[in-house]
Amino acid sequence: MAEVQPTEVYRKDPHGGSEGANDELDSQKIVRVWCDGCYDMVHFGHANSLRQAKALGDYLIVGVHTDEEITEHKGPPVFNEQERYAMVRGIKWVDEIVEGAPYVTTIETLDKYGCDFCAHGNDITTTADGHDTYQAVKDAGRYKEVERTQGVSTTDLVNRMLQRTKTDAGKSDDEGFSLDEDSHPEATCTFMPPVTHSPWTGDSQFLQTTRKIHLFADTKEPPAGAKIIYTAGSFDVFHPGHLQFLKAARALGDYLIVGLHPDNVVSTYKGSKYPIMNLQERLLSVLACRHVDDVVIGAPYKISPELLDHFNVSVVVHGSRTPINLDPFTGEDPYQEAKNRSLFIQVDSGSELTTETVVRRIVANRQLYEERNKKKEQKELAIFEALKNQTERSEAASY
Ligand code: CTP
Ligand code: C5P
Repeated sequence: MAEVQPTEVYRKDPHGGSEGANDELDSQKIVRVWCDGCYDMVHFGHANSLRQAKALGDYLIVGVHTDEEITEHKGPPVFNEQERYAMVRGIKWVDEIVEGAPYVTTIETLDKYGCDFCAHGNDITTTADGHDTYQAVKDAGRYKEVERTQGVSTTDLVNRMLQRTKTDAGKSDDEGFSLDEDSHPEATCTFMPPVTHSPWTGDSQFLQTTRKIHLFADTKEPPAGAKIIYTAGSFDVFHPGHLQFLKAARALGDYLIVGLHPDNVVSTYKGSKYPIMNLQERLLSVLACRHVDDVVIGAPYKISPELLDHFNVSVVVHGSRTPINLDPFTGEDPYQEAKNRSLFIQVDSGSELTTETVVRRIVANRQLYEERNKKKEQKELAIFEALKNQTERSEAASY
C-alpha cells in the first residue's frame, strides 16, 4: 500500500481566533482524516473507531449517510438522519461532520473535504450488490484501518431488545414492554452474551479494561473555583435526548460529573428488562460525549451530603422530560438533600426521546429489524468465508 502523504494545509489559529484574523498563518502540515458510516444507534464501538481515527491525524471529518442510502444498502435505520448527525457531532473526537455523505467512499469525496485518507474498522462494508464500499480508496492507497471494537454493534443492541421482548413461548411481547413489567429473568444479567454469530457484529463479549476507560476518559481536573454540575441516571442506550440533556446541563457550569446508576438499581426503577447495556458499556458511551467531564461509576441513587461535599457540587440537575422516581427501597426523594441546599434544578432537553421510546421503535418494527439483522449476518458470514478461502488458497500457493 502506498505511503499516505499529508496534504499541505494551514493549522487553525490555536488560540481560537476567527478565520482570517491571523494573517501570519503557520505553515505546519495538518493531517485531515475522513471517516464515514451509518452511525445508527451510536455506541462506544463507533466512538472508539473515531477516537482511533482522530489519533491517526489532526483533524477528523465524519461523513454520515442519509436514511435513503442506508435503507437501500442495509435496511432502515433506527434513528433518522437528523438524530444520527446530532449523535456523531456529540462525540468528543469529531471536529466536523458532513451530512448526507455518499455510501460509497470515493477519491473525489476525500479531495472535496481536503482529507488525506479514510479510516475504517477492520470489517468489510459492502453495497447492496456486494461491492466493498472502500475499494477505490484502498486501491489509491488512501485507506487506513482501525481496530473494530469487539462485543458491540447496532445489530447486537437491536437483537438484545428484540430478544427481551419475546415471551417464553417465543411470541412477541411488544405491547407489554413496560417499565414496571417483570417477566424476563435475564434482564438484570450484567454479562450479556451476543445473539449473533457473525465474526464482526456479534462473535464476542465486550471486555472492559482499565486501559479502555483510560483511553476514553478526560484527565482534566476541574479548574480552581469551577462551578461543578452533577447529574445521575441510567443513560442506557445513549440517545439524542441524553445528548441534548447533557449539553444543557454542562451549560449551567464549568465541569459536568455524570453519576451512572448500577445495573441492579436501574432494574429496580426502570423494570427488570433494563438496562439494555450494562454499566461498563454505559460508562464508555457517556465518556465519549463531548459535554461530560467525569463519571461516577455506580453512583448511589440517593444524592447524599457526602457526595455533594466530596465533589464540591454547585448544581444538581435532572431533566424535566422524565419523572423523578422515589428511592425504590426507602421511598425518599433522591434529590432531597440537593433541594434542602437549594442546589437542585430541572432543565428541558427539548427532546421527547427516552430509552423506552427507542425500544418501542424497534419493537414496533420487529419483523423488519429481525429480517435486516438476519440478512446482515448472512452477508457477513459469506464475506468472511470468501476471505478465509482466499487466504487458504494463497497460503497453499506459497508452499
Ligand atoms: N465500528 C467499530 N466497532 C464496532 C462497530 C462499528 O469500529 N463495534 C466502526 C466500523 O468499522 C466503521 C464505523 O464504526 O468504521 C461506522 O460503522 P457503521 O457504518 O455504523 O456500520 P457498522 O459497522 O455496520 O456498525 P454496526 O456493526 O454497529 O451495525
Ligand atoms: O432516563 P435516564 O436515567 O437515562 O435519564 C438521564 C437524564 O437525562 C435524566 O435527568 C433525564 O431527565 C434526562 N433526559 C432528558 N430528556 C430526555 C431523556 C432524558 O432530559 N429526552
